[in-house]
Amino acid sequence: MYDFTSMIPRRNTDSVKWDVKPNELPMWVADMDFKVAPEIRDAMRQKIDFGIFGYEEPHDDYFQAVIDWYTKEHHATPKKEWMFLSTGVVPTISSSVRRVSNVGDNVLVQAPVYNIFYNSIVNNGRHVLSSDLVYDPNNHQYHIDFADLERKLAEPLTTMMILCNPHNPIGKVWSRDELIKINQLCIKHSVTLLSDEIHGDLVFQGDDYTPMFSLPDDLIQNVIVCVSPSKTFNVAALHAATVIIPNQVLRDKVNRGINTDELGEPNLLAIPGTIAAYTKAGQWVHKLRQHIRANYQTVVDFCQKNIPDVTVVPSTATYLVWIDVSQLTDDSAKLESFIRSQTGLYVSAGTVYGGDGNHFLRMNIASPASMIDDGLNRLKNGIEQSKQSK
Ligand SMILES: Cc1ncc(COP(=O)(O)O)c(C=O)c1O
Repeated sequence: MYDFTSMIPRRNTDSVKWDVKPNELPMWVADMDFKVAPEIRDAMRQKIDFGIFGYEEPHDDYFQAVIDWYTKEHHATPKKEWMFLSTGVVPTISSSVRRVSNVGDNVLVQAPVYNIFYNSIVNNGRHVLSSDLVYDPNNHQYHIDFADLERKLAEPLTTMMILCNPHNPIGKVWSRDELIKINQLCIKHSVTLLSDEIHGDLVFQGDDYTPMFSLPDDLIQNVIVCVSPSKTFNVAALHAATVIIPNQVLRDKVNRGINTDELGEPNLLAIPGTIAAYTKAGQWVHKLRQHIRANYQTVVDFCQKNIPDVTVVPSTATYLVWIDVSQLTDDSAKLESFIRSQTGLYVSAGTVYGGDGNHFLRMNIASPASMIDDGLNRLKNGIEQSKQSK
């Protein structure tokens, strides 16, 4: 019933991802080459046909849709009064930075991490302080150095931390125990913790992710959680996110920042699109996860067999694959641009994510299997050519 195999031409459709040369294959920015679930498109069509598009705000049915989705999918039930609608996760992060920290403060992140976090911090006059994730080259897994994290949270100028769970770009789901530890440290050092959970529905194998708001009440009084249908349902252009803040004082503080003067009104499809996604498109997401899992396995198997110089970092979530190219280069930006120029394959250079990203490439695998095969063959050719050119 759902089509995850057809290649839908997206060139010349204003797509950022596909604004590339005719021979190029874009596997970089995080949107998917799959058509949005028909249930969501139907709801959007109905809205368009209604024909009047004034100012809008969400009501009980919107919040109930979010509550039911998290209850059914993740066995976690946020309270209605904790939530409000925002026009996107990144705008919410930037607005929260302005509301809960001061110019000159440190905002802590865990590099390598989603590059736009840096913009939200630096463009608001705050400093980025990273407690880098630690990479073990033997098992190719990352972990948190909790001693380093605590040292940095304890710095007087550190007033906010931005967590990414599951973590983009490494595809890791943080465990409940790790989340509790992070929380306890943030509480101890009076740091507001923002948890970006935009990839939370895209755990394709292993244990599910733990929504931060499902932790005990006393642990979540300093927490801002951002969830969104954007990645899950491939509706980035919807500009809809739900912000969940259990503590009323913090909620009022952040919500004021997100008021219409700052982030604008929701667009005409945000409310009906989100409700339809959460109430009607669950099956589509369940199928999607199977395709992501199959594509992930294809990438792992192909690289093992055909590109022995690279290793795919083991992951359980997101449709972004983090590929260790440290045996080939210390400068993944250079490798990325070489591969693009020689083969047309456009992946993301790990350098933009900070930390040890200069040893990695990030590949978006939310595309039909035929495109994954094409991308992998180009990756193999590009890497072979780069070795020959040395
Ligand atoms: C971790 C993370 N947060 C936020 C976003 C973007 O969110 P939005 O489009 O709602 O601003 C992305 C997009 O890739 C992401 O990976």
